[in-house]
Amino acid sequence: MTSLFNLIRYLKVKLVVNTLWRWSPKSYLRSISLFSATESDTVWQLIHAFYMIENPKHRAEIFTQILEEDFHAKQFEDLINITEHADNYKVPFEEKKFLYSKEDPVWKLLAYCYIGEKDAADKFKDIMACSHNPDLKRTLAKIIHDETSHVGQANSILYELGAKPSEIKIELWRIRLIRKYESLVRNTKRIFEVIVDALLAIIYFTMGLLVSFKAKSIILDRKNS
Ligand SMILES: [Fe+2]
Ligand SMILES: [Fe+2]
Repeated sequence: MTSLFNLIRYLKVKLVVNTLWRWSPKSYLRSISLFSATESDTVWQLIHAFYMIENPKHRAEIFTQILEEDFHAKQFEDLINITEHADNYKVPFEEKKFLYSKEDPVWKLLAYCYIGEKDAADKFKDIMACSHNPDLKRTLAKIIHDETSHVGQANSILYELGAKPSEIKIELWRIRLIRKYESLVRNTKRIFEVIVDALLAIIYFTMGLLVSFKAKSIILDRKNS
């Protein structure tokens, strides 16, 4: 079942990279800015986790991860800045929200980050395999290396924080379900935006042609009268 999900994810990424990103630079920029926003959000979430964790070893590991996630966000921003057509591009504002309240055990927040890290690493590997953009591939190679080590680190911290394996399993399952739903909503919105952009382009082009024909016929009528 997992390999089927992986195949579906790979085909979806291939479709986006080879069609959507090629036809619509805006779509590519939006995806990269979303990656940057996600990295920044991870920094924000981990800072909260950092203050809730008491074990110095875990705090040191989380602090290192915060620095690396912040660097990832910056690397994606750099990618936007060197991209053609990015001159007037404005990174959409993504409001940050608490994933868990302060009353919840901190391992739940780390579990969410763990799933996010794993999903990101898997998706970045697929993008690397499909993309022909050397700048993007170079950036992703460095980030994948870091994310893979974060996944192993988060997994071990989860168990060391004292949560029961059954609790962790249920929470991971719940988080995966929420993330699948959010991804579905996000993808549907993006597909709708691309369709609206294409329809507007067709309408503007058709109107331009009609106005041009009308103007020519008025000029010819005036010349003949
Ligand atoms: Fe990251
Ligand atoms: Fe990470």
